[in-house]
Amino acid sequence: MNCLGIETTAHTFGVAIVTDKGEVRANMKDAVQIEEGGMIPAAVADHHVEVCGTVVKKALEKAQCSMKDIDLIAFSQGPGIGNCLTVGTFVARVLASLHKKPLIGVNHCIAHLEIGRLKTEAKDPVLLYASGANTQVIALEGGRYRIFGETLDIGVGNFLDQFARYMGLGFPGGPKIYELACKGKNFIELPYVVKGMDLSFGGILTNLKQKYDSHQYSKEDLAYSAQETVFAMLLEVSERAMAHTGKNELLLGGGVACNVRLQDMAKQMCRERNAQCFVPANEFLVDNAAMIAWLGTLEHKAGITTPVEQSKVLPYWRTDEVEVIWS
Ligand code: ATP
Ligand code: FE2
Repeated sequence: MNCLGIETTAHTFGVAIVTDKGEVRANMKDAVQIEEGGMIPAAVADHHVEVCGTVVKKALEKAQCSMKDIDLIAFSQGPGIGNCLTVGTFVARVLASLHKKPLIGVNHCIAHLEIGRLKTEAKDPVLLYASGANTQVIALEGGRYRIFGETLDIGVGNFLDQFARYMGLGFPGGPKIYELACKGKNFIELPYVVKGMDLSFGGILTNLKQKYDSHQYSKEDLAYSAQETVFAMLLEVSERAMAHTGKNELLLGGGVACNVRLQDMAKQMCRERNAQCFVPANEFLVDNAAMIAWLGTLEHKAGITTPVEQSKVLPYWRTDEVEVIWS
């Protein structure tokens, strides 16, 4: 069985074809590049409209198949930017009704977790999901992916991107902050904001901007200290979720998890508590359509489909609203 998955929650328009054995036959994407300023939802949606046909075609070509070989259409129904989600949903509906294929709308955050379970040996992990818009520590308990801790304001990726933009480094800022941080030597004390199991990055961002404007610190030291501080916060909450649930696996997900320093810190924390740390390849950490196709496949095998009249976008869809009947 082949599932065609479509990802459009934010900057990336992705199309993938994945088999029910978990073989990724194609995983194509076209992501918006932004040099200055933030993402403008309508402009990103325009980009997706422009590239959607080409990306679908490229995915079919890569997988060496045609629409008649596709058995299921999966799309990210939420959470995400409404304008962007609408384009993906529209393409999915058109393909499903034109080619008479079943349709399935999946939760983007859960997809980040399930692709990690497919691509690594992780079985029942705590997931540290660190992306641009989202920062959540998630684990399966009582038939749902529960959020044990999350950001109270911006995602850790947005935090890094905004700080990078403030220093004139462009978007995405995560990799640029990482490069600078590798050259940093002096740790500068910053606010450390963990409230119960939740996290907050807004105050740290303001503090960093003030320090940058004061010209007393180098960019390298600020980037280094920003990373050390916020990654320690992420791992403190992850470690407590592991202790609370008794799980001894940590799985990383989301674009920020491409950061090698975060990976090293996560591995060290796991070593110290005799746990295992799993990190999928970068291609499956950042937004990608393979994860949408794979979660669609899992849910479909468990008997779920999304009737067209229930396929409208869900920009605020929460991870813990989904009943996990496929695991
Ligand atoms: P979501 O919709 O799940 O919140 P997203 O739209 O923010 O996801 P992702 O691709 O999961 O997209 O994550 C983007 C974030 O990852 C950005 O903040 C970016 O700076 C960061 N990032 C991407 N690649 C790297 C890298 N190689 N090193 C460090 N950070 C990275
Ligand atoms: Fe994502």
